[in-house]
Amino acid sequence: MIQTQNAPLLYMDGVSVSFDGFKAIDNLSLVVEPGEMRAIIGPNGAGKTTMMDIITGKTRPDKGEVFFEGSTDLTQLDEADIARIGIGRKFQKPTVFESQSVFDNLVLALEGERSVFAALFHSLDEEQRKRIEEILETIRLTSRRDVLAADLSHGQKQWLEIGMLLAQDPKLLLVDEPVAGMTDAETIETARLLREIAKTRSVIVVEHDMSFIRDLNVKVTCLAEGSVLSEGSLAHVSSDEKVISSYLGR
Ligand SMILES: Nc1ncnc2c1ncn2[C@@H]1O[C@H](COP(=O)(O)OP(=O)(O)OP(=O)(O)O)[C@@H](O)[C@H]1O
Ligand SMILES: [Mg+2]
Repeated sequence: MIQTQNAPLLYMDGVSVSFDGFKAIDNLSLVVEPGEMRAIIGPNGAGKTTMMDIITGKTRPDKGEVFFEGSTDLTQLDEADIARIGIGRKFQKPTVFESQSVFDNLVLALEGERSVFAALFHSLDEEQRKRIEEILETIRLTSRRDVLAADLSHGQKQWLEIGMLLAQDPKLLLVDEPVAGMTDAETIETARLLREIAKTRSVIVVEHDMSFIRDLNVKVTCLAEGSVLSEGSLAHVSSDEKVISSYLGR
């Protein structure tokens, strides 16, 4: 993959990785287009999180190709480089600064590599303020901007962390099980929120919650035993015999 025009945003082909002889990822191929949101489903241990580890440089594949924007070989970059070129990742557990306000958490994320002290005492320019206001709207926390992050609900902390990733303006956002532990109302709102985010960037979202996947209303990839079992619309994937027997029908 060296051609960059019309290239997919993410191109994975023939990717495998073993841990102590166990193939966690086995000849996996996945292509995500610019501006696409993709939902990833599949049984426990299917390799969904490991796939994200490979994309973000946390785990090196034993073989296969992983390219970003056509020509950037992600297997040659470290985690910090990969974050810098525009791949943001949200882990399952929110990692916000509990003792800071919602607003200041976003300031810290926007300022990136500055020290906490420098970031909080540096006055924001008009553009940065506008950007934070936009993010607050997107993550449904405008009215909670001055609240300490510690006082947010679990779901709101997840949204704040998504906001902190947005401050870095990633081209691709990876989200692993965002609605685990959320209330039903928060889960529904999270589907809306991710659909809005996906208007301006690509998103890969892993989830087990099938009503949430239905609300996302995007192309679905079902992984099992480290490779793609089925791919297409949710209706297609969820009526696929292979998916029913290995995942949905359990
Ligand atoms: N660093 C590692 N060392 C050893 N084994 C690992 C490592 N990372 C993942 N595995 C194994 O690889 C397999 C795939 O795990 P992974 O966490 O990617 O699954 P998953 O699809 O995310 O599952 P879940 O839905 O439970 O989150 C599992 O059997 C897991 O134990
Ligand atoms: Mg996982």
